[in-house]
Parts: sequence; structure tokens; C-alpha cells
Amino acid sequence: AHEELPSTDLITLTRHVLHDQLRLGADETGDLTLLLTAIQVTSKFIATNVRRARLINLVGIAGETNVQGEEQKKLDVLSNDIMVNALRASGRTAVLVSEELENAIIIEERYRGKYCVVFDPLDGSSNIDAGVNIGTIFGIYKIRPESKGTLEDVLRPGREMVAAGYTMYGSSANLVLSTGSGVNGYTLDAALGEFILTHPDIKVPARGKIYSFNEGNSMYFYPPVISYLNSIKYPKTGTPYSARYIGSMVADVHRTLLYGGIFGYPDDKKSKSGKLRMLYEGFPMAFLTEQAGGLATTGTKRILDLVPKHIHERCPVFLGSKEDVSDVLKFYEAHN
Ligand code: AHG
Ligand code: MN
Ligand code: MN
Ligand code: MN
Repeated sequence: AHEELPSTDLITLTRHVLHDQLRLGADETGDLTLLLTAIQVTSKFIATNVRRARLINLVGIAGETNVQGEEQKKLDVLSNDIMVNALRASGRTAVLVSEELENAIIIEERYRGKYCVVFDPLDGSSNIDAGVNIGTIFGIYKIRPESKGTLEDVLRPGREMVAAGYTMYGSSANLVLSTGSGVNGYTLDAALGEFILTHPDIKVPARGKIYSFNEGNSMYFYPPVISYLNSIKYPKTGTPYSARYIGSMVADVHRTLLYGGIFGYPDDKKSKSGKLRMLYEGFPMAFLTEQAGGLATTGTKRILDLVPKHIHERCPVFLGSKEDVSDVLKFYEAHN
């Protein structure tokens, strides 16, 4: 049989982003590319530690509670710390917002750059100890023209982000990124330590056949959500949708982008604004979904048009295939 030689024309994430920025005439300074390099390093570090977690006593709780009242896992804390350190040291950031930190970090002048990074260092904490897929989510804003970096630079609508992405730590580490001109997916080649382009120009199918909600919350759901879910479980024609819910937003959104369908975490009678955090969960995932040709809504508003009043604000989320999300919107309209 004919033996294939390894490719010598590797499209690494850095190469791909540089090429893209040149083509668009953006990022002349290379600052965004450098910032993304720092983010890649944090994803490699987290991926390595996720893989070894069981062996090096990295499972279990850290002993502290975060500002959302959640018990922090050791990996939540470790992932937060590597991101804060790497992003500050990159010299390209001005403001950092993390799920695990009560207050935003305003970077001191010595290290100050032009970008603000909002992030969920470790998404899917409840899945860590079971070895189920988890991830990191990030969104990037550029500081406003005259600003030196304040809270106002991140309390802005998601549509103003210049880039957003996530890394999923699963059977392999996958980094999915948009700098505002489509979505691309890269897989970590652990031997090379490089993210290689494996999923160019991801487009979410116009309609899917999978729904992804925590239906354990059904008794709290509002009528539009209940009616919508009934419509796909008991369709008048055709076959019902399949249920898939991992409980890590990164993994549920990743599957939704690749296979289509809908992911939802609605507001309900118990969680008045839903559960997911607007700035570092809702916005980046909505940005990616729209860039992939899908829709992201609260049920009544486009997610990317929301303006956060504080950094840990929550918002309802429905995202995925255009036609599936449009169906949800129809139920919201009908119930008004
Ligand atoms: P995090 O682990 O970063 O706190 O995020 C948890 C989120 C998200 O990953 C997931 O979609 C959702 O919580 C799951 O919530 P339920 O356990 O209520 O279904
Ligand atoms: Mn958490
Ligand atoms: Mn999360
Ligand atoms: Mn988290």
C-alpha cells in the first residue's frame, strides 16, 4: 500500500489568523494575533492538566465559593490563574473579567494593551470529576478610542466584540474561533503543541434534529418554552427530535454548531434571568453562532444586542440552527 507522508503544509491557528488579518487589512500591529497566542498557551496548559487531573490530585473542590455562590473546583481556580497570568503578561490587555473573580482586573500601566478579555476559565465544572467534556470560553473587546481601560470597555453589547471563541477539552482539545469573518475550528496536535486547522468555515445547518435543554427544570419553565418543547417531542408530522444534554455549555454548543439543532438555557420561575452569564458565556457563544449562520436569542431579544449592567449578569439563551431558533421565537410571539 502507498504510505502517506505527513503534511508539511500545516495550517496552524497562528498562521491562519495572521493570514486572515492580512487579507482583511486588520491588526497591522499584530497585537490581536499575539493575544490569541497567549490564549492558545492557556488552553494547552489547561488541556494538559485536565488530562492529568486524576493522577495529580487536581479533581475535587478548592474550598472557596465564587461570587455566583458556586463551590470552586481546583481546576476552576487553576484555569483562572493561568489565564490571568498569561493575559496580563502578554502586554496586550487592559481589562480582564473572569467568572471566578468578583471584580474586573484593570491591568497596570506597565503591562497595559488595547484589548479586554472576558472569560469562563473552566466551563462545565460539574463534569470535571466524571471525565466528561469541559471547556474554556472567551470574548475579546478592543478598548474604546480614548480609553485606558475601564469597566465601561466591557459593559458593552456583544456585537462589539472583535473576537470570541472556546476550547473544548474532550477526546482532543478543539479551539473554535471567530474574529468576525466566519468560524474556524482547530485541533490540538499534542505532539507538536500546535492547534491545526481541521474545521474550516463552520456553518451550522439551517435545521437540526437535536434539542439540548436541562428538562429537569421543566416544572419551572414558562409556557412558551413548554409549548415549544412539546412541539418537537410530539410533532404533528415527521419524527420527534432527539435529546442531548451534556451540561457543559462548551460541549453542548460545539455539538450544536457541528450537527445543528438547538441549545437552550431559558429563564424560568426559579432562575429569573436564566443561569448562563451574559458577558463570558452568552455573548461569545452567540457571536460564534451568528458567525456560523445561526441565531442566538433570549426568546424576545437578540443576545448580541443586550447591554450588561454588571459583569456577572445572566441572560436566557436559545441558540443554534436558524430555523429551530426561529420556531422558539414564534412560540414567544404567540404567548404575548
Ligand atoms: P460553569 O461550570 O462555568 O459554572 O458553567 C456551568 C453552566 C454551563 O456549562 C452549562 O450549560 C450549565 O451551567 C449547566 O447547568 P445545569 O447543571 O443547571 O443544567
Ligand atoms: Mn461556575
Ligand atoms: Mn460556564
Ligand atoms: Mn466556569
